[in-house]
Amino acid sequence: MKHFINLKDIPSKDLRNIIIDAKKRKKLRKNLNTLEPDNGSPLKGKMLVQMFEKASIRTRISFYLAIKQLGGGTLTLKSNELHLGQGGETIADTAKIISTYADGFMLRTDNDKKIDDFKKYLTIPIINGLSPSSHPTQVISDIFTIEEIKKKQVSKLNICWIGDSNNVLNSLIAASVKFSFRLSIGCPKKFEPKKKVKNWVKKNNKKIYIYNDPKKAAYNADVIFSDKVISLNDNVNKRSKIKQFQKFKIKKSLFKNTNKGCIFLHCLPRGDEVDEEVFLGKNSHVWQQALNRVHVQKSILLYCFGKLR
Ligand code: CP
Ligand code: NVA
Repeated sequence: MKHFINLKDIPSKDLRNIIIDAKKRKKLRKNLNTLEPDNGSPLKGKMLVQMFEKASIRTRISFYLAIKQLGGGTLTLKSNELHLGQGGETIADTAKIISTYADGFMLRTDNDKKIDDFKKYLTIPIINGLSPSSHPTQVISDIFTIEEIKKKQVSKLNICWIGDSNNVLNSLIAASVKFSFRLSIGCPKKFEPKKKVKNWVKKNNKKIYIYNDPKKAAYNADVIFSDKVISLNDNVNKRSKIKQFQKFKIKKSLFKNTNKGCIFLHCLPRGDEVDEEVFLGKNSHVWQQALNRVHVQKSILLYCFGKLR
């Protein structure tokens, strides 16, 4: 049984296979309507339960469409509607019940330990739909989007992240090791990636490049990524943190010293870390990026169900 919890724990070959499969599937369903199943309905009869402890629009709808297009179905739960969320049932029993009724479980949580606890008691695959420490389904989909737009393997590109060292960046760092691409990060000194993350990169004989100056980070970039300065789980003084990120706001001028055709990506939702001119400008591919989550979630589901072609 295969889980999809953290990119760093999944072999590069499996991650590459997910991208290859998503590419084929996207192409094959060009003329199909949103709810029409893929040829062969490979997950016919399968049921995915998704549970959200935090807000979501993209992850929620893309998983709904993904399992539908594969011939299965989904039920979306809010944790506070369950006994578990109200303190009236254990994770162990909840996991056993979910395993009894469903074939897969996707969890968005504000606690990384909860994913491990669920994994321990589930007898079906679990997918991490965002946790405080990572957002793996987002980032693998973003690698797909980059390669689709740039028509090159990501290992041949310079990827730049300007923003907070949050869950999305942690997964991007893991991806930089798994897919061997150059990753430069622009953020204030105080908000650099955690030592544990940097040490993991070192242990894998790879390097990430950190600058406390957005221009230096964006130099020769092929892709610039950003995300909200304040994430869902961020219990900080918001005004003070936003202030410290002021000079890291993405403006058109940042693209002056990037490589030609540099694109802008953002997982959404956005705050004011990026100028409207960039976000809605010709370099931005954020809507295509969001749509691709459907295609990549499908290949993630097939991977977890042991059905990746
Ligand atoms: N990017 C992303 O995961 O969006 P949602 O929070 O809306 O799911
Ligand atoms: N870093 C953001 C991503 C949202 C999809 C958060 O955790 O809120």
